[in-house]
This record gives sequence, C-alpha cells and structure tokens, in this order.
Amino acid sequence: MSDVIIEVKNFNAYYADKKAVKDANLKIEKNKITAIMGPSGCGKSTLLRSINRINDLVPEFRIEGEILFHDRNIYDRETDVYSLRRRIGMVFQRPTPFPMSIFDNIAYGLKLIGVTEKKEIKEKVRWSLEKAALWEEVKDELDKSALKLSGGQQQRLCIARAIAIEPEVILFDEPTSALDPVSTQKIEGLIEELAEEFTIIIVTHNIGQAARISDYTLFMYQGEIVEQNETTKILRNPTHEVTQQYLSGKIG
Ligand SMILES: Nc1ncnc2c1ncn2[C@@H]1O[C@H](COP(=O)(O)OP(=O)(O)OP(=O)(O)O)[C@@H](O)[C@H]1O
Ligand SMILES: [Mg+2]
Repeated sequence: MSDVIIEVKNFNAYYADKKAVKDANLKIEKNKITAIMGPSGCGKSTLLRSINRINDLVPEFRIEGEILFHDRNIYDRETDVYSLRRRIGMVFQRPTPFPMSIFDNIAYGLKLIGVTEKKEIKEKVRWSLEKAALWEEVKDELDKSALKLSGGQQQRLCIARAIAIEPEVILFDEPTSALDPVSTQKIEGLIEELAEEFTIIIVTHNIGQAARISDYTLFMYQGEIVEQNETTKILRNPTHEVTQQYLSGKIG
C-alpha cells in the first residue's frame, strides 16, 4: 500500500465485558474505497464507529490498542474529538436529516466550523449538493423542509452535509440498506466519485455493492478480521472458509 492514512493496530473494542472487535489490524489507503463485510453482529459497525470515536458516546464502551490517523493515535489524551470527527465524517444507515430546510441542513455544519460569510455558505451548499448529485433535484426548493424529501434524497442530503465541511475520510454504515434500487445505484455511483477526493470506508452486507465499488475488502467474523485483500481477489478466491460460506450465501 502506498499512501496509508489510517492504521488500526492490535485493536480490541468492548461493550462492558462483551468483546465486539478482537485484535484488529488493518491499513486504510488514501482515496480508496474499503468495504467491511461479514454477518450480522460480527463487529463491523463497532470497528467503523471506533474510527471517529463516535462510540465514545456509548456508556461502558472501551478499547485497547491504537488507531493511527496520519500516524497519530486518535485515542491519545490530547486528541480533540470534535476536530477528529470533522476530519473523519460519517453517514448512517438511516438518513438523519435535521428538521430544518434543505439549505440549513448543510449551512448548519458550516456555521459550526466558523464559516460566516453568506456568499461562501451559499457556494458551499451548492458545491456539496452538486457533489452529492442532488442539486438538480432541489435547487428550486432549498427552503423546503428536508423531511419532505424521499428517503434516497434524504440520504444524498446527508452525504452533502458530510462533505460540505470537507473531511478527509467518510465512514458509511450500510448507507443504502434502507433504500430502493434506483437510489442505491445513485449512491453507489456517488461514493465512487467521492473517492477521488475523499477516503471511504463502507460497511455493507451487499456483496454486489462491495464488488461494484470497493478497492479493498475486510471480512469480519465473530469480532475478528478473518480476511483482507483487494476486493477482486477476495471475491474470486476467498481463502478463509467462513468467507467462502458467506459469499455463497450459507451464512449471513
Ligand atoms: N451499544 C451496544 N451495547 C452493547 N452491545 C453492543 C452495542 N452495540 C453493539 N453491541 C454488540 O456488539 C457486537 C457487534 O455489534 P455490531 O453492531 O458492531 O455488529 P455489526 O457487524 O455491525 O452487525 P449488523 O450487521 O447487524 O449491523 C454484537 O454482539 C452486538 O450485540
Ligand atoms: Mg452494523
């Protein structure tokens, strides 16, 4: 790997006594799409949510080991978690627009990071909606409530909101599992384009989705990363038995 942006080292994650991620080691390459796959409950979301410390909000959550972002451990005491989450953004499974206008959904985050000039806010709202392939659909109704958009449009708005503040990495946790096939296709295309500017980590249950968009795949089983490789290699020639079983639909 040439350009490693994140490195997870000997990482364990617990909810009270329950060990949800076991001795994870992985590297994430810049401007690539890395997919995390595996059966339900295997620890995919826990691993993903550890990367921007959003799981800190869960009582009884604790970790061992390190996650390096640009060679610095994000779990160091000096880490400013707020700015970490600004640099490593997140899009969730269900669209989570704020109950405000389409425009304000994006402007809100910009104001929080100190963008105050109206012209700049307008430009960034447009830029991020264009990047999220939503601009054409909403440009004449930016004052409309975001809650009135369709599910697929809401998810693209959440992606626009995530990219507006220009993070380096975007974490996606099953971003299309609540969406119809057309919206799913749009979002997959979008994620591929985003990888030109951002580094993407995506949890997915959908083997086809991983095949279509990801460069690398990690396969998890019962808290462990059992296999990681280039996606084409894993899909063509899985070496671990549980990966083979998952890919052939025997577990999942
Ligand atoms: N907030 C929590 N409190 C306690 N245990 C949790 C919590 N979140 C997850 N777990 C447990 O940790 C383990 C891993 O869960 P996680 O959500 O990471 O799995 P997952 O691979 O994302 O599953 P799914 O595909 O169903 O989303 C599971 O056994 C789960 O029950
Ligand atoms: Mg999950």
